[in-house]
Amino acid sequence: MLECEACGKQYDLSENIQLCRCGEPLVLERHHGDIREGKHIWSKYRDFLPLKVDEEFSLGEGNTPLLKALSLSKKLDVNIHLKNETVNPTWSFKDRGTVLSVQRATELGIERVGTVSTGNMAASVSAYCSRNELKVFVLVPSDLSNKKVEQINTYGPILIKISGDYGDLYYESLETGKSEIYFSNSNSPFRIEGYKTIAFEIYEEKFPDYVIIPTSSGGLFRGVTKGFIELKRSGIIDEIPTLISVQAEGCSPICEAFDSDEKEIRRWFRPKTIARAISNPFPPGGDDVLRKLEKHDGMCERVSDRDILNAQADIAREGVFCQPSSAVGLAALKSLRKKDKIEKGADVVSIITGSGLKSEVIFDTEQATSHCDLEDLETCIRRFF
Ligand SMILES: Cc1ncc(COP(=O)(O)O)c(C=O)c1O
Ligand SMILES: [Zn+2]
Repeated sequence: MLECEACGKQYDLSENIQLCRCGEPLVLERHHGDIREGKHIWSKYRDFLPLKVDEEFSLGEGNTPLLKALSLSKKLDVNIHLKNETVNPTWSFKDRGTVLSVQRATELGIERVGTVSTGNMAASVSAYCSRNELKVFVLVPSDLSNKKVEQINTYGPILIKISGDYGDLYYESLETGKSEIYFSNSNSPFRIEGYKTIAFEIYEEKFPDYVIIPTSSGGLFRGVTKGFIELKRSGIIDEIPTLISVQAEGCSPICEAFDSDEKEIRRWFRPKTIARAISNPFPPGGDDVLRKLEKHDGMCERVSDRDILNAQADIAREGVFCQPSSAVGLAALKSLRKKDKIEKGADVVSIITGSGLKSEVIFDTEQATSHCDLEDLETCIRRFF
């Protein structure tokens, strides 16, 4: 069954439907169960998943490292762990949701898949569809950088740059081709199911006090939260960790509504942030994120572009090169420590959602580079001893 957590309406699973008539994204009903023995995430967490993942669909997603941030933990007086999602097959957490949603399309008998994305999901859906010989339509904003277009196009999709409001494109796409194209968008119910596995993996390694989640359309937040709730409902954990949603100041419709105690988000006009991957001005899962934040006593934090870039460099010094959109988590943690909203000694997990190799903005690398002639190599190196 698919259900709407806003109005309670239920829909049969045989339909290709992702949005409730009331406009909210649908979710699969809750699963209960146990974590099984095994190596492969899709068999270990089988009790909690709506379908059995065909091994041929998988590119080896998940099982990502939870790394202790050594100097940052000392500096901020908390135990920070980075959930390194940059090592997924197409270098972002999206792969966990893509594999389930693409398989869902084939189970509905649909051979065309689409996605609306600013880059990470486009690359992910293209890779999985090409591998499984499904035609894939990728709709991206018209000003997407060439670097991102190159990676996506190499997987061989039909890539279409769309001029117009990116927020509206999500809703328009779900009306396009309906029974002939399955849109694997940010809040697709089966995609959300894949993101639950991040919560399961975190639970298995180190159960934290706080989990920090970069948020744009709301899918990742909704998936991770659902994962923890299902662990609780199954009696595996007593309480869920405190969940923190993070947005960039220049596009923060969810935090805006949260801070002013609104129940519904309002569309953000003219998003402006270097964290492009998290700049959806009208997040389809936004109202549900608000509901979950309220119900579970979560927090919503906004961070500036300058703090994001500093955090990106700090995370790189822990050995992980991430996107600005992933570095928002550390920027938020610094700010919450300063305001004492996270206590000294707390265990914190920050989800590092995607790799920096795809991002168009990084700090000034030329300024940090030295030059020397080959014959002066010895002297040159000794200058840094
Ligand atoms: C790198 C990165 N981090 C975080 C997010 C946020 O995920 P969601 O849109 O599901 O909230 C995205 C979404 O595109 C992303 O690409
Ligand atoms: Zn509804």
